[in-house]
Amino acid sequence: MIIERLHLNSYRNIKDVSLEFSEGFNFITGRNAQGKTNLLEAIHIFSLGRSFRTRRTTELVRFGSEHFFLRLIGRSDSGVGFRLEIGQERSGRTRLSINGKKMKGVSEIIGFMPSVIFTSRDVELSSGQPAGRRTYLDYTAAQVSPGFLADLKEYRQVLKQRNSLLRSAAAGGTLDEAQLEVWDEALARKGASVVTGRIEMLGVIAERARDIFTEVLGREDGLELEYRCSYDPEGCGEDALRAALLAARESERRRGYTLAGPHYDEVTMRIDGEEVRKYASQGRRRLLAVVLKLAQADVIMSRRGERPVVLLDDIFSELDAGVVSGVRNMLSDRYQSFITSPRGDDFPGDIPGVVGYKVENGVFRTPEGSSKAS
Ligand SMILES: Nc1ncnc2c1ncn2[C@@H]1O[C@H](COP(=O)(O)OP(=O)(O)OP(=O)(O)O)[C@@H](O)[C@H]1O
Ligand SMILES: [Mg+2]
Repeated sequence: MIIERLHLNSYRNIKDVSLEFSEGFNFITGRNAQGKTNLLEAIHIFSLGRSFRTRRTTELVRFGSEHFFLRLIGRSDSGVGFRLEIGQERSGRTRLSINGKKMKGVSEIIGFMPSVIFTSRDVELSSGQPAGRRTYLDYTAAQVSPGFLADLKEYRQVLKQRNSLLRSAAAGGTLDEAQLEVWDEALARKGASVVTGRIEMLGVIAERARDIFTEVLGREDGLELEYRCSYDPEGCGEDALRAALLAARESERRRGYTLAGPHYDEVTMRIDGEEVRKYASQGRRRLLAVVLKLAQADVIMSRRGERPVVLLDDIFSELDAGVVSGVRNMLSDRYQSFITSPRGDDFPGDIPGVVGYKVENGVFRTPEGSSKAS
């Protein structure tokens, strides 16, 4: 997908701006707190149906204004044009339309314009808490497989109900053994399906990530990603989970929640045999997190047949010049990308196909100085 134009009105610190974009790189630079992330956030709303930074939509409306309005003009990879519009009142009312047709809810836009976003929160993806890696894997798989999403939702539902049963038992109530067995069975079945989906997805991601990592660094650096079941490292099947639930039953009764299942699983990452969480440098961790996002973009592209828009918020800090140019080369011709940085020299002027904007206090200008605010 290609975003050709974006109009923003009263969005965050952006008063009224129309921007045109390159099919390749769009580089947004400017000092801190000027509106770089605000722009990526606005674009991403068209994918997610809401902001990636907040659920409180009133925060998005410019101080002193009563509503914001965003219009995005784009085209699919096959050349079909589209127009998306989102309006939001400070009072909370949202209006959304696709090609002029009003949609009932914001969620109806999800899936229309695939995108991948890297933000400061994703830096810890490769080395932070395991939950971040599980979410990344689940999100990627859910984007390309409705079956996986259904399994995941059912698993979460069963987990919630099972936990509530255990919680009341731990609080002194009597445990409904027959009901617990029903939940055990459902948890083992759905849990195993989730794990199967995750392992399959990770296999695809691992291959893509390894290739991208090698391409960016210009040499093989032995990236390995591996799924680790929390309940039985030897085998992640349904029976193993059933056995783990049985073994955990006594402590679950005391503690009041489920102690085994894919919600404790981990993805381990190694570079040249060394575990990233324990040994990798800051720059490598950041690079790996970016590579995981780019692998996600490749997965979406190959499964959906549509190139996602790639939004990269301040990815270059901590990366050395060689890695920065490796990432730029890897992205060129592959995706339409929107890259922000407080340092203008991350994109030297001699790179072809770059549209550059410098933002200051919500006003965007091209380097030639022509104001793009309307
Ligand atoms: N609803 C709003 N109305 C007006 N201004 C807002 C609103 N929400 C945020 N801002 C302003 O937007 C600015 C932050 O913009 P943004 O997060 O895009 O900065 P940035 O350019 O990405 O900076 P950094 O380099 O530090 O990440 C702040 O100055 C903030 O006051
Ligand atoms: Mg920012």
